[in-house]
Amino acid sequence: MALSQGAVRRLLGYLTHYRLSFWLAVTLMALSAVFQSVLPVIMGKATDEIVAGNRAGLEESVLFLLVFVVLMFASGMLGQRIFAKVSQQALFDLRTSLFSRMQDLSLNFFDRQPIGELMSRVTSDIDVIDQFFSNSFQNVMQAVVSIVVVTAFMLWLSLSLTLLVYTVLFALLVFIWIVSHISGPIFTSLQEHLSRLNGYAEEHIEGQKVVLAFMQEGRSVDEFSAISKQAAQAGGRASFTALVTLPASTSTANLQSVLLLVVGGILVIHGRIELGLLVSFLGLSRGITGPLAHVFTSYSMLLNAIAGAGRVFSILDEEPAVADPPGAPAMPPLHGDVVFDHVDFAYVPGRTVLSDNSFHAGPGQVFGLCGPTGAGKSTIINILTRYYDIQKGAISIDGTNIASVQQDTLRIQVAQVLQVPFLFSDTIMENLRYARRDATDEECIAAAEQAGAHGFIMAQPDGYQTFLSDGGAGSLSQGQRQMLTIARAMVANPRLLILDEATSNVDTRTEKLINGGLLKLQEGKTSFIIAHRLATIRHADTILVINKGEIIERGSHDELMGKKGFYHTMFMSQFRGKLSGVAGID
Ligand SMILES: Nc1ncnc2c1ncn2[C@@H]1O[C@H](COP(=O)(O)OP(=O)(O)O)[C@@H](O)[C@H]1O
Ligand SMILES: [Mg+2]
Repeated sequence: MALSQGAVRRLLGYLTHYRLSFWLAVTLMALSAVFQSVLPVIMGKATDEIVAGNRAGLEESVLFLLVFVVLMFASGMLGQRIFAKVSQQALFDLRTSLFSRMQDLSLNFFDRQPIGELMSRVTSDIDVIDQFFSNSFQNVMQAVVSIVVVTAFMLWLSLSLTLLVYTVLFALLVFIWIVSHISGPIFTSLQEHLSRLNGYAEEHIEGQKVVLAFMQEGRSVDEFSAISKQAAQAGGRASFTALVTLPASTSTANLQSVLLLVVGGILVIHGRIELGLLVSFLGLSRGITGPLAHVFTSYSMLLNAIAGAGRVFSILDEEPAVADPPGAPAMPPLHGDVVFDHVDFAYVPGRTVLSDNSFHAGPGQVFGLCGPTGAGKSTIINILTRYYDIQKGAISIDGTNIASVQQDTLRIQVAQVLQVPFLFSDTIMENLRYARRDATDEECIAAAEQAGAHGFIMAQPDGYQTFLSDGGAGSLSQGQRQMLTIARAMVANPRLLILDEATSNVDTRTEKLINGGLLKLQEGKTSFIIAHRLATIRHADTILVINKGEIIERGSHDELMGKKGFYHTMFMSQFRGKLSGVAGID
């Protein structure tokens, strides 16, 4: 419970951040509740005037009634309007901080969480929080004000009738307390089930090609309905408890009226109280049960919001695993002298992926990395750009240990071209400029020419201003998109370049086109090129052969061929594959 209180307080913090508007809205809404509570008292007074046959008094009371109705309406409307603005702003802030947190989190956070579940979390949790802000919070607040004001009026009018109202109320509260203790955990589990369900659906829709390719549709459907069934059961239990609360509070309200009529009626008949007092009490007692019923029907919403907020905050509180040391300096402009010194690394503690890796790449040198799938090639790149921290040894660039500087200032000086080209939904020109905002149009066009992309860009409907919807997936081929990412890297023109299987997804003819651009891109940069097709790294100054996380051979292509070891065997098998026209090897 301590956690959920913390979550509520934090949620409210997003609202109270807009202090002035928030309190203005709350004051207006509270005033509206006060005005509403006054109405039954005036009604009672009007009744007494009627009984006394005082026409002038009746007119006065009716006038008061009208004034208060207008005041109640005006303050309520205004308060709600201001509150809606504040809550939308608060929601926007929450979304923004969540999004930027997710961008900051290191990759290993996403290794631990299915991405579909995370997306579902962010969208559906924010939705329930929205409902909390725009509904539950107001209900609870107005209910508290009404109950306090109404109780004050009741005590002022008659202590004994107040006690009567409260006795019935107490019974209701006990009942609700029991129900809420049963339904609380049910709602939390419902939300968790739903989130799992969404996560599963999203992942399997995204991965549908794979599902179909392995003919696993049946299995997906079975798994989905199993999860779905659990969610439905939790939903059934949750809605039962919600269904019980509303009739319970309505019946209590009616029971209360009956009791008041009986007890109050006898008192009126015996001349102990005025009829007006009884009328006031009948109205006032509704001013307690009504708001309470509201609160309890939005109770499930409140629990949902607390559960959602708890999960959202758990993301916000997640510390990036790769953290900058306090006061870390920026990485100075790179020359590109890279040293791996006895580096050990594991993604998961205890499961070593790289062991004792050492090498030195001087500025401007081209390093080729090859080896079987899963050997650890991409991992070397991941730790060089500090997406993960290493467990042992040291990685330094230009003599600076990369763990001692701000990670962003390192990454921004490295250009990467990965296996799957990633472009943003923006114009071609803006995509080229992405890594260096101040690049001129001319520089971008020159880079596109060097990368061999100028021709097909000009053939697009709007040339460089062509908008790439869906990151160009619809209008450009994979090879063309890769050429754009190469041009983008050229515009950035960093000292350190990483190519991770940049051409393994394109056909041989396109590869030839792209290779020219890639070779130009490497000029004057320390380059790490991971290649599946060994011909791509034949020109490298040094080739590292990685197997099972260890560097088992190193040297130039000619040296490695001379050794007749692992590299020689790999190269020859690819070469033979090509000669016999079998493309299966690569
Ligand atoms: N995010 C990760 N979490 C845990 N293990 C990983 C992760 N990424 C890669 N691995 C494991 O690390 C090893 C090396 O992977 P990787 O560097 O991607 O190989 P390569 O690029 O040489 O094909 C593999 O056994 C792989 O399963
Ligand atoms: Mg890889």
